[in-house]
Amino acid sequence: MKALVLSGGSGTRLRPFSHSMPKQLFPVAGRPVLVHALEAIREAGVTEVGIIVSGTGVAVRAAIGDGSQFGMSVTYLPQEEPRGLAHCVMIAREFLADDDFVMYLGDNIFDGGITETVETFRARRPAAQLVVTKVENPSQYGIAELDAEGRVTRLVEKPDDPRSDLAVTGVYCFTPDIHEAVLKISPSRRNEWEITDAIQWLVAQELPVQAQLFSGYWADTGTLADLLECNRVLLGGITPAVDGTVDGHSRISGPVIVEAGAIIERSTITGPSIIGAGSTIVNSHVGPFTSLGRECRLTEAGIEHSIVLDRASVDSVRSLQGSIIGKSGDVRRMRDGSASHRLLVGDHSRIEVPA
Ligand code: DAU
Repeated sequence: MKALVLSGGSGTRLRPFSHSMPKQLFPVAGRPVLVHALEAIREAGVTEVGIIVSGTGVAVRAAIGDGSQFGMSVTYLPQEEPRGLAHCVMIAREFLADDDFVMYLGDNIFDGGITETVETFRARRPAAQLVVTKVENPSQYGIAELDAEGRVTRLVEKPDDPRSDLAVTGVYCFTPDIHEAVLKISPSRRNEWEITDAIQWLVAQELPVQAQLFSGYWADTGTLADLLECNRVLLGGITPAVDGTVDGHSRISGPVIVEAGAIIERSTITGPSIIGAGSTIVNSHVGPFTSLGRECRLTEAGIEHSIVLDRASVDSVRSLQGSIIGKSGDVRRMRDGSASHRLLVGDHSRIEVPA
């Protein structure tokens, strides 16, 4: 069995961060969303992976390489424009050959992984197997209607008038039957080749399409709020480890990871939190539910429920929460006694200040 991971697309809802990196590389709980995906795939016993990348995929290639660091072998499959999930299957035809495969949307996270799903598929081998979950806003997803045995009877992509509240999540298992299906469909009203239409074609041919109900935590990390929430949930499962240096005037409580080379001085770190490699925290309070990237610098800072990317710094600002600070971002108190805010805000950024 192979895996096809979709890491193309545009990610406009994650601006400004998606200006400088593919959305699948955004870090949650210390690792890019895409790395969480690859780990779930490897845990399910699949090691031959094709990754769809937009353009040449320079950033994804730099982060993932040949996959050996994750115990897998990775082939990159460039897609010039995001023309739909079924289009990705068309592009991957040669890579997939006549093998069964699991298709995983690279911006999805399943807390607890996908091993059970893949095992069920291997045992039963329906033409397609979906994972569905109940949602409150069905018009934003592919929606499945099922019979009493969990067979899919109808699938519609982002219906205006949904007939079920079961959303199709971002992990699909397929036999090679899907290759004929993707050639039988036409682009949708949003001008994409939809995988839901291809699966609906399988249903119409009376081929077995099964759905499994997933009741754990699943995130389609489409928005910045989703990323913060996902960070909060995944941090809840970390295994504490202190590999950096913590001085005798600091206090660590709850599950905390302090990576190698990090230095904590006269500070409080409340878990669950991660302090990335080489970061320096002085006279500060971090956490709970906060992930810091590599080589960050916090001085006289206070931050909770937040994500801070590599090499960012916070100096003398103690009231940060629910924040995301991009790579090398710099948040500081002004030293000239001024009561105004002085902002240098990048494209599509958002600043929220107290009333
Ligand atoms: O997350 C679950 C939903 O994912 C399903 O309920 C929908 O049925 C399914 O169509 C999909 O909807 P989205 O609108 O959320 O898909 P999105 O455009 O966000 O793409 C999902 C992932 O696939 C994302 O990591 C980007 C990547 N992608 C997307 C397209 C359209 C590609 O690599 N190439 C593409 O052409």
